[in-house]
Amino acid sequence: MEFRHVPVLPAEVIAYLAPRPGGIYLDGTLGGAGHARLVLEASAPDGLLIGFDRDEEALAAAAEKLATYGDRVRLVHSDFAAAAEVLAGMGIDGIDGFLFDLGVSSHQLDSAGRGFSFQQDAPLDMRMDRSRGESAEDLVNELPEQELTRIIREYGEERWARRIASFIVKARSEQRVTGTLQLADLIKGAIPRGAWEERLHPATRTFQALRIAVNHELESAEAGVQSGLRLLKPGGRGVVISFHSLEDRLVKGCFREAAGGCRCPKDFPVCVCGNVPQVKILTGRPITAGEAELAANPRSRSAKLRACEKL
Ligand SMILES: C[S@@+](CC[C@H](N)C(=O)[O-])C[C@H]1O[C@@H](n2cnc3c(N)ncnc32)[C@H](O)[C@@H]1O
Repeated sequence: MEFRHVPVLPAEVIAYLAPRPGGIYLDGTLGGAGHARLVLEASAPDGLLIGFDRDEEALAAAAEKLATYGDRVRLVHSDFAAAAEVLAGMGIDGIDGFLFDLGVSSHQLDSAGRGFSFQQDAPLDMRMDRSRGESAEDLVNELPEQELTRIIREYGEERWARRIASFIVKARSEQRVTGTLQLADLIKGAIPRGAWEERLHPATRTFQALRIAVNHELESAEAGVQSGLRLLKPGGRGVVISFHSLEDRLVKGCFREAAGGCRCPKDFPVCVCGNVPQVKILTGRPITAGEAELAANPRSRSAKLRACEKL
């Protein structure tokens, strides 16, 4: 199956990342290497791109697509949360920019067998990195009901979380829940038909929640952004694209904290905390896709880009 993924906000990524010749760029989420290729073109002839993906299939496809750039590309099979250590191991302690285009690729969503989608039947896996960690099947069958409820409520922002968890727990007491369609049917049964949202499959929120939990997506995003911010050289740029409100809130919080200065109470005559702003935020409001992109790439609908510059 050909690796299919259209990069979102391509022009905006390049405008904010501002790659230049000789620069070192970290692409934490290579995926289909669409953004990576643009960064390499914009930083020609000698910009270096260090590309991470925790999905070996994505990494192999990216290696093929980027082969023509030779030693301007280094590929790493790892969670980008480990970026600082991995780069230190390469002898790199400063970068000119980082990009995290969070979440899953269209390729992952569409690949039968990965278990991300309820559109086709597949084992409930949902791991981006299939070489490690617990699958969605493990979580669905083994987590206590209360923890399942929390995950579905917090990560899926699903108001029917408690009912869905209780339906899952009842079903698994009779038979292990192993397939995407089996789970989707259970969820459909748990949400009263009158409460189904228009144009949103009833299982959407729960599948998102499980995917986030299986891949520790919020923890990784926070660790990755923090490492990226530390690694940036003065004048270096950080760009993050998120696809749901939990991620966007997290990115906004990390950027704000890094942009904030003194945190002493207002009535202190002099600063005793010593905190100084680390970055300047370049996007007051997140950047979203324009009409042409929305029409051409439905995935861009929920994309929000935030960028900052190291001081
Ligand atoms: C939205 S796609 C990126 C698409 C890419 N920017 C492009 O232009 O084709 C996200 C990719 O990042 C990977 N990914 C997500 N979270 C990751 C993490 N914490 N560490 C490493 N890779 C991650 C996924 O496996 C997926 O391949």
